[in-house]
Amino acid sequence: MLELIKKTRTIRRFKQDKAIPEETLKGLINLARLGGSARNCQPWQYLVVTDDRECNSIFPYIAWAGYLSDWKGPSEGEKPSAYILCLLNKEWLKGNDKEAWFDLGLATQNMLLGAMEQGIGGCRIGAFSPKMADLYKFPEHLQLSLVIALGYPVETVVLEDTGQDGDIKYYRDNEEIHHVPKRPLADIILNL
Ligand SMILES: Cc1cc2nc3c(=O)[nH]c(=O)nc-3n(C[C@H](O)[C@H](O)[C@H](O)COP(=O)(O)O)c2cc1C
Repeated sequence: MLELIKKTRTIRRFKQDKAIPEETLKGLINLARLGGSARNCQPWQYLVVTDDRECNSIFPYIAWAGYLSDWKGPSEGEKPSAYILCLLNKEWLKGNDKEAWFDLGLATQNMLLGAMEQGIGGCRIGAFSPKMADLYKFPEHLQLSLVIALGYPVETVVLEDTGQDGDIKYYRDNEEIHHVPKRPLADIILNL
């Protein structure tokens, strides 16, 4: 479990021409389905996108890696080969949507772990333009809430502990290796 969790890093550069089988993507959604859900209301639904043209039309609405200010996102050939759009079904909510966001965290982590186990990388995209929803005719009760970009990775990502300065910004080194600083265990276990 530790190895898989360590390996399940956010991936932003992919083998664009290597398709992910539809069945594999459905399998990921099955993993999302089996996650915990507050009041067990399971308010999330998912749209699988694999068609090249549809992937191309989604891409411009996505913002990549805010801390890599001189990188505008994956170039042609390294773009995602699939997306899973996460939609909140407001008719399935019980009460407000606060708990639903926890559910989405659990569901998407299940998906990304299951993907990486099969050598597929992904990136949750919260920074997408709301205008993306105009590409579809979603009924009123379905709210486009998160986009997951997926594909076979072509980049190396490594974990490291944050330094003395506590800087949590990820960065890329001269060899194009992406570094993700995580706070050390001793910093997050409270000793009051
Ligand atoms: C809810 C959520 C939204 C995110 N949105 C974006 C995004 O819009 N664009 C992006 O490039 N990365 C996004 N990320 C990825 C984070 O930047 C990434 O998780 C973080 O840098 C830590 O890297 P790691 O996932 O490899 O641990 C998002 C992650 C989460 C959990």
